[in-house]
This record gives sequence, C-alpha cells and structure tokens, in this order.
Amino acid sequence: MFAPAFTILSFFSGVGFCKVYEDVADLPSLHYDFVIVGGGTAGNVVASRLTENSSVSVLVLEAGPSNQGVLDAQVPFLESGVSDTGTPYSWNYTTTPQTGASGHVFDYLRGYLLGGCSSHNGMAYTRGAAADFDRYANLTGDEGWSWNRIFPYFLKNEKWTAPADDHNTQGQFNPAIHGTQGPISVSLSGFSWPEFEQRVIQTTTELPDDFPFNLDMNSGQPLGIGWLQYTIGHGERSSSATGYLTPDIIQRPNLDILLHAQVSKLVNLTQSRVSPSSPVTFQAVQFRYASKEIILSAGAIGSPQILLNSGVGDRTALGALGIPPLWDLPSVGKNASEHVYSGASWAVNSNQTVESITQNATRFNEAFAEWNNSRTGPFVNPSPEAGTHAGWLRLNADSPVFDVHADPSPGPGAPHFEMLLQPFGAAGTPGHHISITMAMVSPVSRGSVTLSSNDPFAAPVIDLRLLSSDFDALALTEGLKLALKFASAPAWDGYLGAPTVDLAAMTPTELTAHIRANSGPGYHIVGTAGMSPRGAQYGVVDPDLKVKGIAGLRVIDASVLPIVPGAHTQAATYVVAERGADMVKQTWTL
Ligand SMILES: Cc1cc2nc3c(=O)[nH]c(=O)nc-3n(C[C@H](O)[C@H](O)[C@H](O)COP(=O)(O)OP(=O)(O)OC[C@H]3O[C@@H](n4cnc5c(N)ncnc54)[C@H](O)[C@@H]3O)c2cc1C
Ligand SMILES: *[C@@H]1O[C@H](CO)[C@@H](O)[C@H](O)[C@H]1NC(C)=O
Ligand SMILES: *[C@@H]1O[C@H](CO)[C@@H](O)[C@H](O)[C@H]1NC(C)=O
Ligand SMILES: *[C@@H]1O[C@H](CO)[C@@H](O)[C@H](O)[C@H]1NC(C)=O
Ligand SMILES: *[C@@H]1O[C@H](CO)[C@@H](O)[C@H](O)[C@H]1NC(C)=O
Ligand SMILES: *[C@@H]1O[C@H](CO)[C@@H](O)[C@H](O)[C@H]1NC(C)=O
Ligand SMILES: *[C@@H]1O[C@H](CO)[C@@H](O)[C@H](O)[C@H]1NC(C)=O
Ligand SMILES: *[C@@H]1O[C@H](CO)[C@@H](O)[C@H](O)[C@H]1NC(C)=O
Ligand SMILES: *[C@@H]1O[C@H](CO)[C@@H](O)[C@H](O)[C@H]1NC(C)=O
Repeated sequence: MFAPAFTILSFFSGVGFCKVYEDVADLPSLHYDFVIVGGGTAGNVVASRLTENSSVSVLVLEAGPSNQGVLDAQVPFLESGVSDTGTPYSWNYTTTPQTGASGHVFDYLRGYLLGGCSSHNGMAYTRGAAADFDRYANLTGDEGWSWNRIFPYFLKNEKWTAPADDHNTQGQFNPAIHGTQGPISVSLSGFSWPEFEQRVIQTTTELPDDFPFNLDMNSGQPLGIGWLQYTIGHGERSSSATGYLTPDIIQRPNLDILLHAQVSKLVNLTQSRVSPSSPVTFQAVQFRYASKEIILSAGAIGSPQILLNSGVGDRTALGALGIPPLWDLPSVGKNASEHVYSGASWAVNSNQTVESITQNATRFNEAFAEWNNSRTGPFVNPSPEAGTHAGWLRLNADSPVFDVHADPSPGPGAPHFEMLLQPFGAAGTPGHHISITMAMVSPVSRGSVTLSSNDPFAAPVIDLRLLSSDFDALALTEGLKLALKFASAPAWDGYLGAPTVDLAAMTPTELTAHIRANSGPGYHIVGTAGMSPRGAQYGVVDPDLKVKGIAGLRVIDASVLPIVPGAHTQAATYVVAERGADMVKQTWTL
C-alpha cells in the first residue's frame, strides 16, 4: 500500500476564461478533494455527481479542447468531422499491424475534447444483455454489478425524448424501461427512410425464426431486430459534456475544469522533483493535495497509459523501458476486449438512401440549412456508423464453431453478433446502396495497451489482436451468412441490385479470408484496467474500482469492464460512472 498519489501534469499554455480554464495559471486553487483525470464520457459524470455536495471540491483535467462551439460535435449527421483521425478532436491513434486482419493498421478513434468519446461517437444507445452484467457480478464477486442492481443507474442516466420529427413511436420501443429525468437524452430516429425501414420490418415477419422483431433491445433481452435508439435530443448530440456539465453545473463554485491539460503520470510526492521528459515545451505543475482521491477517467487507452507511465504495471516490462517500477500490477493494459466488424452491401433500385444527401451538394446544403433552422431533417440522425435498426443474433447452438472454442457469450440471452441495417453503402462508391454491417460482439481475442518508451507523451502501443482467435473469424463467417440470409427475404425482391462484393458466391473458406481482409475495430475497447475480485492475483481494480494495492486512486471509465458487453459501450460506461460516483460518495459520506 502507498500513501495517496499526487499528480504531475503538463499542459500547453492557452488563454483563460470563466469556470472552464484553459490556463493552469488561472486556476483559483491547487488544492482539491478530488482530481479527475479525463473530462470524457465517465469523468464528467463523476465530476457532476460529486459536486452535488457543495462541501467537496473537484478539479477535472482534460487533455483536449472544449466541445463548445464545435458544430460537428453538435450536429449528429456531421459526426465524422469530429471523430476522424486528423481532426483537432482526435487522439490520432493507430493500432499495430493486426496479424489476424491481414496485417492492416487501423486508425483507432478516441475523442480528444470535453465529453471524450461521447462528444464524437455514433450515438447508438444500447445497454447490453442482462447476462453481460450478471457475468460482471460473477467475475467480480460483487452483486452490485448485476443487471438488476445496475438497472436503476440506466434510468438515472437517461432522459427519454421524443424524436425530432415527432413521429408516432408506438410499437418502436417500450416506455416502461426508460428513464425520463436523467441528463442524457435518448430518442428514436428523427428522420425516416421508409422504403428501407418497411423492408427491414417485413423481413422480421417473413423470417421470424432467425430474425424476430424485438420491441426494445434495451430491456436486458436484446435478441432480435429492433429500432435503434440514439443519445440525441431535439436534433442535437447529447454527450457527457452537454448533459452532465450544463451551464448551471459548470458554475458550481466547487467545480473547476482545466482544458489542454494532459496528465503524464501520477507520482508519490516523496520521490518527486520530476522534470518534464518531453522535448516539447511543457510546464509541470504539482497538485499537492488531492486530499481525498485521484480518479482516473482517461478511458481504456488513457487510463492504463497513465498507470504505466507512473510505474504501475508489469514490473519487468516497465523496467525494460527504463521506467522505475512502483507497483507490480501485471494486468494493467492487458485483456483489452473489442468488437470486430465486417459487412456486405448492395446497389439498390431506389434513390431513398443516405447517398442522396452525401453525393449531392445541393441536397446536403439544404439538409444542413433545415437542421440549422429547425433541428429537423436528415441531419438529426447520425451518419454513417449507425443504421435504422440493429439485430442482436446468436450462432446456432449446434454450430461446429463451438468445437474451436467454448461459447464465449455470457449466456443464451446474449448475442454473438450485432447486425446493423444501414440505408447507404461504403463511402465513396457512387450510386445508391444499402449495407448490412455484422459485428462479432462476444470475441475470444484479447489485446493490449502498452508503452513504446519512457516518454509519457509518446502514443501508446495499441494491439487489439483482432481476429487472432480463429473462433472469432469463423463465427463472423457464420455472421455474414446470416446477413446474406436476411437479404434473401422476399421483402428485398426487386429492391436489391448487385452486391458490391459477391459474398454469396464464396465458399466458407473464401468468406473467412474475405473477412480477415475486410474488417475493422468497433472502437468499443474495454478491459485494460479490469475489475477482479478483491484479493485476486490478476486484474487492476477491485469491484469498488480502487486500484489494487494503492490508496487514494480509482479508475472510473470503460477500462474497468472486464469483458466487452454485447452492445456499443457508452451506456455501460455511463452506468459504471454513475455507480462509481456513488461508491466514492459512500466512501467519504458525501
Ligand atoms: C468513433 C467512435 C464511435 C463510437 N460509437 C459508439 C456508439 O454509437 N454507441 C456507443 O454506445 N458507444 C460508441 N462508442 C464507444 C463509446 O463512446 C466509448 O466506449 C465510451 O464513450 C468511453 O468512455 P470513457 O469515459 O471510458 O472514455 P472517453 O470518453 O474516451 O474519455 C476519456 C477522456 O480522457 C481524456 N484523456 C485521455 N488521456 C488523458 C490524459 N493523459 N490527461 C488528461 N486527459 C486525458 C480524453 O481526451 C477523453 O476526454 C464509439 C467510440 C468511438 C471512438
Ligand atoms: C490530431 O491531428 C490533428 C491534425 O494534425 C491535430 O489538430 C490534433 O491536435 C491531433 N491530436 C492530438 C491529440 O495531437
Ligand atoms: C461464477 O460462476 C461460476 C460458474 O457458474 C460459479 O462456479 C461461481 O461460483 C460464480 N462466482 C460468483 C462469485 O458468483
Ligand atoms: C510513497 O510515499 C509514502 C509517504 O508519503 C512513503 O511512505 C512510501 O514509501 C512511498 N512509496 C514509494 C513506492 O515510494
Ligand atoms: C484476463 O482476465 C481473465 C479473467 O477474465 C483472467 O483470468 C486473466 O488472468 C487476465 N489476464 C491478465 C493478463 O490480466
Ligand atoms: C427518385 O426516384 C423516383 C422514382 O424512381 C423519381 O421519380 C425521382 O425523380 C428520383 N429523384 C431523384 C432526385 O433522382
Ligand atoms: C440533388 O438535390 C437537389 C435538391 O434536393 C435535387 O433537386 C436534384 O434533383 C438532386 N440531384 C440528383 C442527381 O439527384
Ligand atoms: C445557422 O443559423 C444561424 C442563425 O440561427 C445563422 O447565424 C448562421 O449563419 C446559420 N449557419 C449557416 C451555415 O447557414
Ligand atoms: C456533504 O459532505 C459532507 C462532508 O462529508 C457531509 O457532512 C454532508 O452530510 C454531505 N451533504 C449531503 C447533502 O450529503
């Protein structure tokens, strides 16, 4: 056990203003009860909840800039302008060459702005299966992570909101399972693509054994095909920055937020006198008193990176990089668990596709003007990652793929696959298309986040080991066959034209090879600071999110989920943060 950790941060100088500070020199204090590293999806939840008690002071340190005034972080349709590598709001990470995926190097998108990934993600709102959370309870030995005990936190986070087009939503969701008073707006699509949507729903009646309709995939029983819900309200993105840091919350006298503040490492003051090791011009500041706790909310890449920079990790690996090992915790950065996506697309005999906007500058400008004037029209929906519907599907129980590996899913009510139904084709292909994107959401493969050097500002090494398990590749092969089966329903007759790639003509072996050459990550990484039972010989945090063996330090973000859920990960991250904040309050009787 050590005494409380202390933070060293380095930052780019900037101009200071109001309660969100851009220059450390403007900070009114260097003494806080809690310092939260990372103003991302989870960090802002924790900051907002802790400062509900006016007797505690909180500082949030965020590496990136503000979300305020970033149009692409506000207009759902313009998401790629804020999410893609090379924008000012991206960490610009890449993966190592992924051997299981034909050696490809992938951009690994992470939000570099207030709100983190919630300010730039695809906004799909999917909670996962009850079995995902029941497995977390089992893997941690803490019933508090079970679906039934976590469920109130989903409601606490959520504000169900009418869609931007105010259409009749009866039969598209189950109101009984949604929250109405929380900070994050959730709504059904606010702009429709009727020709496509009708065919999707018709397929659920034509092929109900494989593709049953599910009224609401967020009930804990996600299997089947249902209407997607999004973290969008009144035509605008709802993020942890817009929802948990509303103007009244930002004005709380006990909350300070410092932007452009990239934390390099946590140090034990007794061994400090740290000098900045980066060649770039940085200034170092010590926060001498995070008198209660430091909370790492830097995400599943950032949090393990900071731990490793601080000497918390595999002792041998750290020593080899010349980083003085402080505390041997070999699981830091290991067990990275991520989804893998592939898909199929077809030309269609219709001009009602998203391409009617993306390939027509006149229409694009009209659509933007409509959004700008009334927060309606196609720009109220995300593009292109999401879709109109998602299906959550399983391998057949007697699939030979289970000879390769035992079923990695948490139970019969949880999916192996996500099938996204999208009224558009691959970007850049002229003409009108639809796509069925298929993801393997219960992967066996595990990757890692490690360091390349002892420079705390160097990009970490992200090795997802996508498709490194044959199980994942063979399962995804079965998944693509399900996509082809979906598209073979009579509903699509006369509408589907030629496939972009003729997957139906491929043998299973060719299909697996095609998948290895044409797949990518889901940006859903978790597990790099995973929870394990108290006293376990592996894992990074205890079920109360305290870093094992270190006093005064917790991790509260997606990293703590030991295995990726069968869902996009923001809803799970929000409930980790809500429960994490409650656990901090409980510790300090706030
Ligand atoms: C492109 C993309 C699309 C996605 N689409 C969806 C979707 O449609 N639906 C869904 O549910 N999920 C989606 N996800 C996943 C989901 O958004 C993430 O799992 C979740 O938001 C992660 O939250 P977090 O709090 O763990 O990390 P983040 O939100 O990444 O927060 C970490 C914060 O810490 C900051 N930070 C990092 N390092 C440091 C440092 N050293 N010092 C100071 N600050 C630091 C970062 O800038 C960031 O603001 C998507 C993710 C991406 C990248
Ligand atoms: C990513 O690249 C863009 C374009 O060069 C840049 O503006 C941005 O600051 C980079 N992000 C980081 C974290 O360095
Ligand atoms: C987890 O599940 C396994 C297998 O069902 C069981 O043996 C074990 O006792 C469970 N552990 C906890 C902590 O519930
Ligand atoms: C950290 O600091 C405490 C006292 O502040 C000291 O007792 C402890 O030995 C230090 N730990 C390390 C690993 O330097
Ligand atoms: C990864 O997690 C599993 C439990 O899910 C655990 O048994 C294993 O030890 C972990 N590996 C590492 C390197 O932490
Ligand atoms: C779209 O297709 C319809 C019916 O085929 C046709 O009448 C219409 O002119 C087309 N619109 C555009 C913009 O091409
Ligand atoms: C482009 O959009 C404009 C405005 O909606 C429309 O009038 C025109 O027909 C479209 N062009 C094509 C080729 O579809
Ligand atoms: C959007 O609307 C605002 C007024 O609400 C206007 O000032 C602005 O110029 C518009 N932007 C564009 C690009 O049309
Ligand atoms: C706020 O925290 C203080 C200090 O722990 C505690 O005494 C007080 O009861 C808390 N207030 C509320 C409303 O919980």
